[in-house]
Amino acid sequence: MITSVELRQKFLDFFVAKGHKIIPSASLIPENDPTVLFTTAGMHPLVPYLLGEPHPEGDRLVNTQKCVRTNDIDEVGDDCHGTFFEMLGNWSLGDYWKKESIAWSWEFLTSPAWLNLDPKKISVTVFAGDGDAPRDDESAQAWKELGLPESKIAYLPKADNWWSPAGQTGPCGPDTEIFWWKGEGAHPPESSNPANDSKNWLEIWNNVFMQYNKNAAGKFEPLKQKNVDTGMGLERTLVTLNGFKDVYQVDTLWPIIKKIQDVSGREYVESAETVRSMRIIADHLRAATMIMGDDKGIAPSNVDQGYVVRRLIRRAVRHGRLLGIRENFCSKIAEEVIKIFKAIYPEALRNREFILNEIAAEESKFRNTIEQGLKEFEKLLDGFRIALEKTGERVTEISGKQAFKLYESYGFPLEMTLELANENGLSVEVEGFEHAFRAHQDLSRAGAEQKFKGGLADSGEMSVKYHTATHLLHAALRAVLGEHVAQRGSNITAERLRFDFSHPEKMTDEQKSRVEELVNYAIKRDYPVSFAGTTVVEAKAGGAMGLFEDKYGAKVKVYSVGDPNEAPEARENSLAFSKEICGGPHVANTAVLGKFKIIKEEAVSAGVRRIKATLS
Ligand code: SER
Repeated sequence: MITSVELRQKFLDFFVAKGHKIIPSASLIPENDPTVLFTTAGMHPLVPYLLGEPHPEGDRLVNTQKCVRTNDIDEVGDDCHGTFFEMLGNWSLGDYWKKESIAWSWEFLTSPAWLNLDPKKISVTVFAGDGDAPRDDESAQAWKELGLPESKIAYLPKADNWWSPAGQTGPCGPDTEIFWWKGEGAHPPESSNPANDSKNWLEIWNNVFMQYNKNAAGKFEPLKQKNVDTGMGLERTLVTLNGFKDVYQVDTLWPIIKKIQDVSGREYVESAETVRSMRIIADHLRAATMIMGDDKGIAPSNVDQGYVVRRLIRRAVRHGRLLGIRENFCSKIAEEVIKIFKAIYPEALRNREFILNEIAAEESKFRNTIEQGLKEFEKLLDGFRIALEKTGERVTEISGKQAFKLYESYGFPLEMTLELANENGLSVEVEGFEHAFRAHQDLSRAGAEQKFKGGLADSGEMSVKYHTATHLLHAALRAVLGEHVAQRGSNITAERLRFDFSHPEKMTDEQKSRVEELVNYAIKRDYPVSFAGTTVVEAKAGGAMGLFEDKYGAKVKVYSVGDPNEAPEARENSLAFSKEICGGPHVANTAVLGKFKIIKEEAVSAGVRRIKATLS
């Protein structure tokens, strides 16, 4: 058994022995960077140095960094997704390069003096190359020289093996990712690797080779200073080293689960539901405690990081309720989190009073309304049932107005209503909620966009591209599946788009390829994207898609993609023009989008499908 304390220390000792200087974990709240709410990787606070600024500690650095990522928050509760996590990282600022970096990773993982992992259970991925940058043969060669067989080196495209901070402009480059065999049997089959057998491999370490700077025009220019940025997931590596089944067995999470068992009087393993609820509580309160414990005085609120903290606590309270906890319990859990981390991140202990007071206040506030809110939600369900009996009409969506009422009167964050809706096979009209929210809160657009799943996570270049691609996808889906397709939700990160839409059944492979074809055709035609100000009534009369109906304000923007003057015969194979009520922003011409690919098509709830797609 190796503990988190031992693993952190070994990592630091190893890289110190290789000439690195230890730097402290930076704050979870980024300095001078409005594009992200949290520090998501160890390299994030180092960007100025990766761009050439000299670092006071020299050009070889190592640390343990606290990180928060909220993109997978809905997945929390399974074996491996989390919001707060720790990343072990080492950096070369224009010093050593691929060969050394890879050799040291290998030595640290497999040497009996260090982690002593079985090399036969390791496999790696390497960048396959594309129009922007060639295949990373240098990394592949370095792996081969260490004795890794060819079959354990998989070549994958940008979506998998390329890293840049939030996909925006700045330092970026190919990466090589190291995976551990988690499948059955002592060793993986000869041919198995993360590309052809991904469910049996767990990524534990990512070595990024920053050799390009992505400029504002989207071009990849060679960086003057070539850097190495590696990130090893602490929790996942402890799972690997200790043969655990999931991350919650790690000693920075398990004591929290035990505490939740104590306060609820329930057993973790009682049922799949207790496992999930306890995991969500443990993950969310660990994250909330660490964000509030970060010297920046972040408290639950309705904006920015405070809003995330509020969501985390409120979701934990609801899952506590599902476990039968009726009294305030969150500060007891926070105490446990502080105990776990106080030696390594002393700021959590320094801010103990603040954390405990704020978390208790937030919990009390929410407890005052949650019962009534849940009753209100039940009433909604009853209403739907009665409507079905009386009129035969099945309502499958909670309106934006209803979701907003749950938010405004009972403090239900939108995400909680989405979760409740999902548990009952329903969807939520997210755009309507956002609109009502904006109208009431008078929030700035930029602020609102960051906080809602329906909006853009940031206004980075990649996000803008995905936004335009989302419009093309929407139009293509209507062309292929029919006019009943309407947007139900949209979520964009720098890496992918996610689009929820109404459609009663699974798409066939043929339909998916046809949709891809249409979108890629529109991209190839390099259509201009333009907008005009108009009213909702006029916009609708002109055939624009939009879900706002008469609730929407008088003036709206309608974005159009396509060439209205294109000859009809040229259009045969193209989208019949996309027109959508939308606030923007969008790219000016579609050719910059690259290649569009559907990665996944799945159900979200009754009658609602979800597509995840990438541009490369
Ligand atoms: N920045 C890379 C990552 O987050 C490696 O540290 O995976």
